[in-house]
Amino acid sequence: MKLKHVIESQQFTVPLLMELFERTRQMEKIVARGGTQDYAQKIMASLFYEPSTRTRFSFEAAMCRLGGRVLSTEHARVFSSEIEAEQLEDTIRIISGYSDVIVLRHTEEGGARRAARVSSVPVVNAGDGRGGQHPTQALLDLYTIHRERHSLDGLTIAIVGELDKGRTARSLAYLLSKFERVKIHFVSPPEVQMRQDILDHLDEHDVWYDLSHDVAPIAGEVDVIYQTRIRPERVVDRASLGRYTIDERLLRRMKPDAMVLHPLPRTVEIDKAVDDDPRAMYFKQTTNGLFIRMALLTLLWDEE
Ligand code: CP
Repeated sequence: MKLKHVIESQQFTVPLLMELFERTRQMEKIVARGGTQDYAQKIMASLFYEPSTRTRFSFEAAMCRLGGRVLSTEHARVFSSEIEAEQLEDTIRIISGYSDVIVLRHTEEGGARRAARVSSVPVVNAGDGRGGQHPTQALLDLYTIHRERHSLDGLTIAIVGELDKGRTARSLAYLLSKFERVKIHFVSPPEVQMRQDILDHLDEHDVWYDLSHDVAPIAGEVDVIYQTRIRPERVVDRASLGRYTIDERLLRRMKPDAMVLHPLPRTVEIDKAVDDDPRAMYFKQTTNGLFIRMALLTLLWDEE
């Protein structure tokens, strides 16, 4: 069960996920009573080379609720010595001497792995590159589904959007492959479909999937639509973008107990009219991000 760093979703086994989820439920209770001082001696460095609202704020809030302290740079590309061409490895060696965990969002795929190689404290990948991974996002996504359904076996999910560079979708696919009888519909414009490495992984793990270009025909059969952003400039047939949008018409096709998730930020791929529907879970997801990140930090430290 030892977890030294959190770099990719493949590190998590089903028993470890269940342990993490149990811990996350405890964190919900701890937050409800205002937090704890149990980790008052701990320092978290949040080192973000790309913008973030949810991940950085929720990790920093997690640390505050655990009683610890935060070292942070809001834009490491400018406000760290990277501007002087300092190498990531040097930066990490130095910051790991000042902190008990480093939460890193890096511009390059593999950035978190490079950091972990030289860090003396746990490194948590908060998103690496355009086609890397974002494992803590996938953990909170899975927790949100598990909390509502109590099981992940037998789940049918549509993962929609610009999937080739979708690090949250990639991390989620890896986690879903650990469960039984999961069915995944990847719904995306053909030029930005899910990459072959993920499809190969699903084949190796006997996970059912298909690739399609319209969410409406499958909306009625899925338990979850996991919507992600599509940048219109990456799509050849712009007139087709409506096929990947969730609006009230699509909601009418969905099961009454289905869920709409989105890692956020969104642009136009979920109509605001969807927000008040009880199946819209994306804001609840962001709150679950606080709880899961508290649980993950304590898991890393308690296992040291
Ligand atoms: N979901 C997510 O990673 O959001 P941020 O970019 O705001 O952290």
